[in-house]
Amino acid sequence: MANVVIAGMQWGDEGKGKIVDLICPAFDAVVRFQGGHNAGHTVKFGDKHFALRLIPSGILHEGMRCVLGNGMVIAPDAFLEELGELRDAGVDGDGRLFVSDRATVILPVHAALDQAREKARGADAIGTTSRGIGPAYESKASRYGLRVADLGAPDLVERLEGLLAVIRPQLADLGADLDADECDVAWLAEKCRGWAEALAPMVADTSGMLYELRREGANVLFEGAQGALLDIDHGTYPYVTSSNSTVGGAAPGAGVPPQTIDGGIGILKAYTTRVGAGPFVTELTGEIGEHLGRRGNEFGTVTGRPRRCGWLDLVAGRYTQRLNGVDGFALTKLDVMDELEEVQVCTAYRINGEERRDFPASRAEEEAAEPVYKTVPGWQANTVGILDFDDLPQAAKDYVALIEEELETPVLIVSTGPRREETILRRNLEAFQRVTGGRL
Ligand code: GDP
Ligand code: IMO
Ligand code: MG
Repeated sequence: MANVVIAGMQWGDEGKGKIVDLICPAFDAVVRFQGGHNAGHTVKFGDKHFALRLIPSGILHEGMRCVLGNGMVIAPDAFLEELGELRDAGVDGDGRLFVSDRATVILPVHAALDQAREKARGADAIGTTSRGIGPAYESKASRYGLRVADLGAPDLVERLEGLLAVIRPQLADLGADLDADECDVAWLAEKCRGWAEALAPMVADTSGMLYELRREGANVLFEGAQGALLDIDHGTYPYVTSSNSTVGGAAPGAGVPPQTIDGGIGILKAYTTRVGAGPFVTELTGEIGEHLGRRGNEFGTVTGRPRRCGWLDLVAGRYTQRLNGVDGFALTKLDVMDELEEVQVCTAYRINGEERRDFPASRAEEEAAEPVYKTVPGWQANTVGILDFDDLPQAAKDYVALIEEELETPVLIVSTGPRREETILRRNLEAFQRVTGGRL
């Protein structure tokens, strides 16, 4: 197998960064295809700790080619800052880091609009990362957005005037400060020209690059951001992000034909977390939720907000696997559950007295849903750093088997700690060999 998509199966923060970093040696390039710096992907190994936002998690491997695809929304300032941080840490992207010329630019006015809207929604806020993700995708879909290739365009000022003509009145309605620099065409134009120059060595027709790579028989890993329940079409709308964060988004978001994608790995956290507002059927607001949050260090990588924690939701899991159709899962953060006496798993929802196994589309039904749990024994033993699946406590193995059975999908990787080293690779499984091409 050559081209594989990594996708979050829940509401993001499943541990995609760790798994991408771990398996990317089996690939020749890593491509991000949606989202922007709303993502925060953590990679740890030895005493090193990186939090990647826009740059693919493959960058930490010397020589690995990394691509920011056309489906992304890119804030040039954030990108250059991240690049600087990596350089300071001794990681160099020279000659192997590429930014799509067709990617959409997030301008400071997009972030201002995101923030002003959230403030105006008050108690009904989405809880966005306030980075301008939604407004930037809106500009793209409404066809007044700015693409990376246009940052230094001869008609840049006219384009920015067109964009501001749409956004300024919205900001004015929301009571935002229109005298701020970000609303000023001359200020924005100068910024854009600076960014055009700084990005120039990295800007490329990345879809064309991927075409050449395919002809050479190279293997490409597509790094999803967010998770399927935050997908603009399939997630818990309106509490979602503004892109397709399911496996299918990789083709348009990277500019590759869908039939050239050979498979997927779904990243599934052993319990559930969610940052921001929106329904969360298995949420635990008491002691156990706090315990998971503390032990799992569940604080947003981007915003530092505490993540809401809850039990694993197999209704949601069946739904997101139906959408993603991954070949197997990487089950992460199993170690965070080590101390629990009992573990609950949601197998169905009860909505207005009726037991249901499907994931509802309506917000009212999602909010009304109550979890139907199956209770299984905890393992109450340390799993951190176990490398062989057989060495896991029996109750932990049973938990993995329950997930495999309910979701009809094998667990190929079990993660029992944040570090690269703390991972069980189930090389004996046929699907593991298939998605890694036997190269791990
Ligand atoms: P991503 O957005 O999907 O890449 O996930 P994040 O990096 O935002 O959040 C996952 C967090 O869990 C990070 O702090 C990781 O270092 C950490 N992590 C990943 N896998 C494991 C694991 O198996 N056990 C523990 N304890 N932490 C993990
Ligand atoms: P990674 O890639 C978790 C959530 C926000 C908010 C909603 C919309 O690290 O898994 P946005 O700023 O995208 O308009 O916010 O989506 N969200 C994430 N939650 N992990 C992420 O990324 C997220 N990216 C966005 O909290 O609820
Ligand atoms: Mg994250």
